[in-house]
Amino acid sequence: MRILGAGIVGLACADELVGRGHDVVVVDPAPGSGASFAAAGMLCPGGEAWHGEDDLLALCLEGVALWPEYAGRLGVPLTRTGTLLVGRDHGDLQLVERQAELLAGAGVAIQPLTRRELLAAEPGLDPRAAGGAVLPHDQAVDPRAVVAALLARLGERVVSPGSPAAVPAEVEVLATGARLPAPYDALVRGVRGEILRVATDDPPAHVVRGWARGEPVYVVPRPGTREVVIGATSEEHDEPPVATVGGVRRLLLAAVDLVPALDRAELVEVTARDRPGTPDNLPLVGPSGDDGVLLAAGHHRHGVLLAPLTAVRLADHLESGAVDARLDPRRFSPSPPTTEGSTR
Ligand code: GLY
Repeated sequence: MRILGAGIVGLACADELVGRGHDVVVVDPAPGSGASFAAAGMLCPGGEAWHGEDDLLALCLEGVALWPEYAGRLGVPLTRTGTLLVGRDHGDLQLVERQAELLAGAGVAIQPLTRRELLAAEPGLDPRAAGGAVLPHDQAVDPRAVVAALLARLGERVVSPGSPAAVPAEVEVLATGARLPAPYDALVRGVRGEILRVATDDPPAHVVRGWARGEPVYVVPRPGTREVVIGATSEEHDEPPVATVGGVRRLLLAAVDLVPALDRAELVEVTARDRPGTPDNLPLVGPSGDDGVLLAAGHHRHGVLLAPLTAVRLADHLESGAVDARLDPRRFSPSPPTTEGSTR
């Protein structure tokens, strides 16, 4: 079979299929250079959850549970220090409290923290932070390390479009993120994200996800290195993604508002990529409705978190016909399938 797209999702699908004995080639002119290259690698279902996205939260909780074994299989380090949700001022704290309420209602482990408790957990936070909460089970991973590990495992199965091995196959899997070929292109939209990489001797010990004067921001350290990732803007935007002065400025101001030592960090990289959003912000995994064409795309804010689960769902579909109704790409067709007979 042929997989178009060597981002983290396409590569994870290929690796799963090869592990199950399938013959796979992955085609991409620049493997790992799309949204996976930008991603911070927060494996943080709760921190990214929002009202009305119950299916997505449930899916992300299933997905995050696969990561400890998955990271071990690939030999990449997993950060397991949890996420701190932080509100810089009292208006920001209200946003944290709203999110904590949502998560507690969904059964996600979350513990509110006073300012004093927050600073005891993370002394690098601004002492004027109003308060927050901890999501103790959250994890993080370096997506670039994951992509490198998958590329090494797949070796010569990953080829460029001109290669003799890149010929069409009986089964095609489209894993090209926000840029699906016609007629599937209408199923995804680009949601631009700008993201920064800095180097510092004073990184926070935890992933910090917060709001500073209303501006959302996350700060993701890579333990054992000087790298800290600061992300990310979010803008409905279908032009080729570029980094803007305003986006970078907002990220820097918000990050320094929460973690003041970042003011002295070295600015190493500014990246902009499109997240692949779908009409309901749930991914597209499974049958396209056209013979021999499957989708593994549209992962919006959760490509890294959901890559291992997507790979399992896609391989299961190929082997047994099982379809997860939440992910079924045909839900957007004029005559969507009934959920009867679909599996999770
Ligand atoms: N999952 C983080 C982001 O999309 O910015």
